[in-house]
Amino acid sequence: MDNTDAYLLNFKGYYLIRSTANTDLLKNLEEFEVRHDDVFIVTYPKSGTVWAQQILSLIYFEGHRNRTETVETLDRVPFLEHGVPKMKHQKRPSPRLFASHLPYYLAPKGLKNKKAKILYIYRNPKDVLISYFHFSNMMVMLEAPENIEDFMKKFLDGKVSGSLWFDHIRGWYEHRHEFNILFMMYEEMKKDLRSSVLKISSFLERELNEEDVEAVVKQATFENMKFDPQANYEQILKHDLGRRTDEGSFLRKGTVGDWKHHLTVEQNERFDRIFQSKMKDFPLKFIWDLN
Ligand code: A3P
Repeated sequence: MDNTDAYLLNFKGYYLIRSTANTDLLKNLEEFEVRHDDVFIVTYPKSGTVWAQQILSLIYFEGHRNRTETVETLDRVPFLEHGVPKMKHQKRPSPRLFASHLPYYLAPKGLKNKKAKILYIYRNPKDVLISYFHFSNMMVMLEAPENIEDFMKKFLDGKVSGSLWFDHIRGWYEHRHEFNILFMMYEEMKKDLRSSVLKISSFLERELNEEDVEAVVKQATFENMKFDPQANYEQILKHDLGRRTDEGSFLRKGTVGDWKHHLTVEQNERFDRIFQSKMKDFPLKFIWDLN
């Protein structure tokens, strides 16, 4: 059964979660006033958004790094497109950090003067698929898939919040010259978190001393974040639109290649064929297996 419309809102060809989307807000986003020192994390869902929110929050806020302040991740790094009143964003002191799943063509025009920075995180779409499958089962605001096959079809049709993975990454990458954007791979961050933190902080022109780098890396590991309620979005999970049951968390497994435990040989081959046909001319490198 196709329940797409019950759970998703189509805004200018892009699917968002219906229960959290706000059309008036979305209509105004193109004109959203961007400050030169704003930073935007842009991701396709389930690609490491919370991880990047944690890293940036740790880099920018000493009080987070040394644990003298306990501010919710969503207050530190709110979603641009999620029903947060515009005024609230405008009142926030600089530097402001944002997260967004929007495609390049719905992003604020002000990002095109290349002053504000964008960190785009991408991840093996097969791992995104599996992470998204579990997430959809867990969250009230998403349609619970019948099984992986059913969800894989929707994912490959772009009938999920975030629309088609292939379009999302291609759009941002092919328009990269219009933005001040750094592309980082989830798998690269997983392999060497320290180097990734250094690369991100250098892009953001936020040099950290040795001690601070250590603190960021330590607090951004999966093991640490998994048991940190703030890093884990516990506040959202407890919400009415949060978890269906008491089970499950944003930080589920945090591994590379979990798809191998879920996809059948046939599903994997079908996915590969579609990936090849959609991405064969795509210049961005993908290194999915790092071992
Ligand atoms: P899994 O479901 O595969 O575990 P998003 O934040 O975009 O929704 O992405 C969620 C995915 O990122 C989850 O993947 C989650 O475990 C993973 N993730 C979050 N923090 C992480 C970290 N510190 N290290 C590795 N993976 C992390």
